Amino acid sequence: MAVEITSPEEVSPIRRLASFASRAPSAVPPPEVAPAPAPAIRVAVIGYGYWGPNLVRNFWDLPGCQVWGVSDTRESQLAQAHARYPAITTSLDYHALIGDPAVDAVIIMTPVSTHFQLALEALQAGKHVLVAKPLAASSEQAIRLIEEAARRHLVLMVDHTFIYTDAVRRIKELVDNGSLGQLYYYDSVRVNLGLFQHDVNVLWDLAVHDLSIMDFILGEAPCAVAATGAAHIPGQPVNMAYLTCFFRSNLFAHHHVNWLAPVKVRRTLVCGERQMIVYDDLEPSEKVKVYDRGVTVNGGPERVAKSMIDYRSGDMWAPKISLTEGLRVEAQHFVECVRGGRTPLSDGQAGLRVIRLLEAATRSLAQRGQPVETAIEPAEGQLAV
Ligand SMILES: NC(=O)c1ccc[n+]([C@@H]2O[C@H](COP(=O)([O-])OP(=O)(O)OC[C@H]3O[C@@H](n4cnc5c(N)ncnc54)[C@H](O)[C@@H]3O)[C@@H](O)[C@H]2O)c1
Repeated sequence: MAVEITSPEEVSPIRRLASFASRAPSAVPPPEVAPAPAPAIRVAVIGYGYWGPNLVRNFWDLPGCQVWGVSDTRESQLAQAHARYPAITTSLDYHALIGDPAVDAVIIMTPVSTHFQLALEALQAGKHVLVAKPLAASSEQAIRLIEEAARRHLVLMVDHTFIYTDAVRRIKELVDNGSLGQLYYYDSVRVNLGLFQHDVNVLWDLAVHDLSIMDFILGEAPCAVAATGAAHIPGQPVNMAYLTCFFRSNLFAHHHVNWLAPVKVRRTLVCGERQMIVYDDLEPSEKVKVYDRGVTVNGGPERVAKSMIDYRSGDMWAPKISLTEGLRVEAQHFVECVRGGRTPLSDGQAGLRVIRLLEAATRSLAQRGQPVETAIEPAEGQLAV
């Protein structure tokens, strides 16, 4: 009788497993079955104007996430969304998405004046929420959103985009590990010929970025602010402003923002007693440069004279920065927080701290730069990363 010999390679993996199982002693545990992948988090985006498409693109590319729908009050914007993503639902009425049981989370990318109403309705419908910066138009509104999210155990996150970039994270690392020594000042310039917003002034549009970066990096909240600015275009909000932040320590910060500048500048200096950082967001690769420069006082403070100050001009180096888009990291963080019930880095409290600074700055602006207390408790500025 001919015996059919089957080489091991010809045995299918399933048959091999079955024959192994029949021979294996009962003490050997059964092979592990891979867990089923978690269902995709379904998001809906409200507002498909300038910034909304960037959110849709990043959530669309994210594994474990599905962009379910987009809403905008303008047909033209929905037509663009549909042309780019034919599979997603589009609606002129955001209620259709907020009320859709298939949607887990709502991303609000509409003008600032609409953030509160839309976010509140989304939370009340049981959706996790990611809101464009600033979180709301007032601290009362922000507190109401924080309370609503907490009561319903929902994630509330604000799109403080820059804190999710590798450049800002590297700066925070250098500050936190003491490389800069005691911090002296934080100085930022964010100017260009920018889009005039109609419902907010330039502080609420551009300085939000710098205040959220500063909040993240320093972990210390200003105790008072002073702001000056000007509105040059009739009927339009203040288009240029200078904002000074005072701290309980000797730290000092200044932010210059402007929609009416001939060139685009996005430069921040963070100066410490040992090292200084220049962060230029327009640099293609070396966005962060660390300078080993400063001064040393010889002979103690009582003998300080010009001749007693030594200038130190050491090396400059640029840490390697990942160029992964901050929004991509932010989108992933949001989905992870929704999935794991975690508190986001830019949570409602971070949004509220920035709004408190903006409100104080607005009062100071009206008083031509009089310093205004911020009413932010020191502990509130301490961030857990
Ligand atoms: N993180 C960043 O770098 C960044 C950059 C730009 C804008 N933003 C923020 O994004 C938000 C939107 O700014 P933008 O420049 O995209 O404004 P935009 O005016 O270009 O777009 C807003 C869109 O929302 C739509 N909209 C308004 N009310 C709506 C409603 N009730 N339902 C559905 N759609 C509605 C409008 O039709 C418009 O298309 C603002 O809060 C802004 O501060 C953030």
